[in-house]
Formats: sequence, C-alpha cells, structure tokens
Amino acid sequence: MPETHKQNAGPPQDLLGPLGGGRSETAATGGTHFGFETVPEGDKARRVKGVFSSVADKYDLMNDVMSAGLHRLWKAFTIQVAGARSGERILDIAGGTGDLASAFRKQVGPTGEVWLTDINNAMLVRGRDRLLDEGRLGPVAQCDAEKLPFPNDYFDIVSVAFGLRNMTHKEQALTEMRRVLRPGGRLLVLEFSRVWEPLTPVYDFYSFKVLPWLGKKIVDDADSYRYLAESIRMHPDQETLKGMMEQAGLSRVDYFNLTTGVVALHRGYKI
Ligand SMILES: C[S@@+](CC[C@H](N)C(=O)[O-])C[C@H]1O[C@@H](n2cnc3c(N)ncnc32)[C@H](O)[C@@H]1O
Repeated sequence: MPETHKQNAGPPQDLLGPLGGGRSETAATGGTHFGFETVPEGDKARRVKGVFSSVADKYDLMNDVMSAGLHRLWKAFTIQVAGARSGERILDIAGGTGDLASAFRKQVGPTGEVWLTDINNAMLVRGRDRLLDEGRLGPVAQCDAEKLPFPNDYFDIVSVAFGLRNMTHKEQALTEMRRVLRPGGRLLVLEFSRVWEPLTPVYDFYSFKVLPWLGKKIVDDADSYRYLAESIRMHPDQETLKGMMEQAGLSRVDYFNLTTGVVALHRGYKI
C-alpha cells in the first residue's frame, strides 16, 4: 500500500508519507519494558512490530473473543465522550484496524477529516481495507506516535486506543499528541489500566493462563498474548497516567474507569 492515502484537505503534503523520519530512541541509553522483560530501548519498537504483524490477520476476531465483545462498548463510550461534531479534524493514533476511525468518520461527515494512523503496516492495511469496504475511506498514514508528521495546532480531537502501552517513550508520544491538538482540542486515551483490587486474582488467572491459551488456539501465537498480559501489568495506573498527561501539558485531565478499571478512558484538553 502507499504509505499515505489522502482524500480530504489536510496538512501540507511534505508532512505526509513514510513516517516521521526515524525513532528517537535509536541511541539507546538504557533499558525499557517489553512486557516483563527489560530490553534495550532500541529493540522495543521492533519487538512490538513483531507482535502486531503476527496477529494482524486475526486481530479483530481475537479482540471479540478475548474481551467477550466488551472492547466494542469501551470504544463506543470513547466515541461518546469525544463528542465529535460535523466538520471536525480528528487524528486516530495507533488506529490499527480502524474501529475508532470508522466511527469518527461517520460522525464528522463529508466536511470532516479523520486520519487513521499506525506505525505497523500490516495493521494499517487491515484498517484501510475495512474502511474502504465500509465506504468510509479517508486519509491513512503510517507513522510513529512519538514523531507525528502533522503541524502544530491542527486537530480538534486526538485519540489513541490500546496503543500507548506499546510505545517506548510514552511521555514523548503524549507531548506530540498535545502539540498537534488545536487550543481547546481534546485528547482521548483508552487503555488497559488497574483493575479493582478484589478482582486481581481472577483477572491474573485470565490474563496469564487463558489469554496465551486463546492466542495459541486462534492465531497459533501464545507469546503475543503473553506480551499483552504483561504489558498491561507494566502500564501506568489511572492516577499515574493522569499525571503523565498533565506533565505533557494537558489540562483538566480526568478519567473514567470501565469494567471496574480493566480499562480506563483518560481525557485531557489543550488550553
Ligand atoms: C492493540 S492495537 C490497537 C489498535 C486499535 N486502536 C484498537 O483499539 O483496536 C495497538 C496498536 O498500536 C500500534 N503502535 C504501537 N506502537 C506505536 C507507535 N509508536 N506509534 C503508532 N502506533 C503504534 C501497533 O502497531 C498496533 O496497531
């Protein structure tokens, strides 16, 4: 696929295209988490890429099976909280197979502009094809959230669903998300979070035993789903992520716990 597919008016052409010019962690200075493993910073993106390239074909099916369909409700809630209006400009980061982009495109209508973006080509191809089948194709770009190829103050809404925990430099990614928002724009971060304490043993059993087993059965890949469980545990909890968003310059940050904190939706504004 072309790295960028553009239908609507958008940022200047020279900002588009293959992704944002390299990653910022190439000069590795230390380790970072890849699930429970500590890996050189420069290795994480490659390993995350391996995970999503491996699961891309059956990603949607696995989402439904793993969450018993709940991910659809979590995403529907995100769309509702985002409150997109006709004609708005929206950037969906780590958009994968396009669940949020598809819903946003319906809301903003033909005068709006919704970018589906992801660092992973295999995921993005699935998303692009799905939007094409739905008659909702719009601009698509393969890009790294840590180095977004968009101008300052451009979008009304930036969203990222289940993507942030895979990023090597989350603070850098959040700073980039704020940069491309227009003043008054809002950032929505939907991500796994810290479950209600009494449910932890059941949740742990499900995550570390059932998920890899399902991964093995459905995509013949237990490791990718073991990574999923581990990466959830390593991800900042609700309050920590709220603090990170404030640190990145977002204002009025709040969050909603969904399914007792299995997932949280954080929202912040660029003032
Ligand atoms: C679990 S999927 C989420 C896909 C979609 N947002 C959803 O909710 O179904 C995580 C996505 O994050 C993407 N990703 C990981 N690191 C990224 C980065 N640095 N920049 C952009 N996307 C990234 C992966 O390629 C993958 O498609």
